[in-house]
Amino acid sequence: MAFIVHLSDMHVGAINFKDEFLLSAIKKSNELDPDLVIVTGDITENGYYLEFEHAAEYLDLIESPLLVVPGNHDSRHIGNESFEELIRKRCRTLVVKNNEIKAIGLDSSEPDLDYGKVGRAQQRRMERELKEAENRNLYKIIALHHHLIPVPKTGRERNVLTDAGDILKSVVEGNADLVLSGHKHVPHAWQLENTAFVTAGTVSSLKLRGKDICSFNTIDIHEKSVEIVLNQSNGNSRILAKYENKCKVID
Ligand SMILES: [Fe+2]
Ligand SMILES: [Fe+2]
Repeated sequence: MAFIVHLSDMHVGAINFKDEFLLSAIKKSNELDPDLVIVTGDITENGYYLEFEHAAEYLDLIESPLLVVPGNHDSRHIGNESFEELIRKRCRTLVVKNNEIKAIGLDSSEPDLDYGKVGRAQQRRMERELKEAENRNLYKIIALHHHLIPVPKTGRERNVLTDAGDILKSVVEGNADLVLSGHKHVPHAWQLENTAFVTAGTVSSLKLRGKDICSFNTIDIHEKSVEIVLNQSNGNSRILAKYENKCKVID
């Protein structure tokens, strides 16, 4: 069995950023001692250097292996340069859990734009990484900020990746097991072929739709099933989705 914590959309620096929600999620994550924590972008609100410094302080509190990818908010105001300096070392391909899980981070942000794009260079790298992981029979996770498949209850779709079709094809043909995203602040899960596509809500910002509340996801990977649990800031939790585990390496 493997266990993963998925946090997203911290929005450090936003007027409605809730420090206590983020600290509580990090505390819970540390208690759960996951094999991997993945943070899928919008760690800052405006991409300001000071916000990145502050966000890095929070990320340093996470005691488990960590993978962070940037979001569109992180690429505002040349935040992409600040991300490079302060966060990039946390944004890399990770192999964890006794060489059983490979997590591949992608940067889908574009400077000062809200839409996302992975681009051909990263797409080729991802394809190579997936193939290498497939040959070694690893459990394969892709992490990127923007969603690849539209998320319900998020209004008019404007922010799916501009190259979503190409990336989706590479992800599915590369037999990725799990794709983790954020961006819409709406937790949801889709399954397509052998791949589960899971979006997390915002862990610590009140940029919420209707009566939604802040949350983060935890993912239990068992030999026969994958269970995605939604953990809300009010302490409630419930199963968001449960799928058959098509990758047999996890015991
Ligand atoms: Fe966001
Ligand atoms: Fe976003």
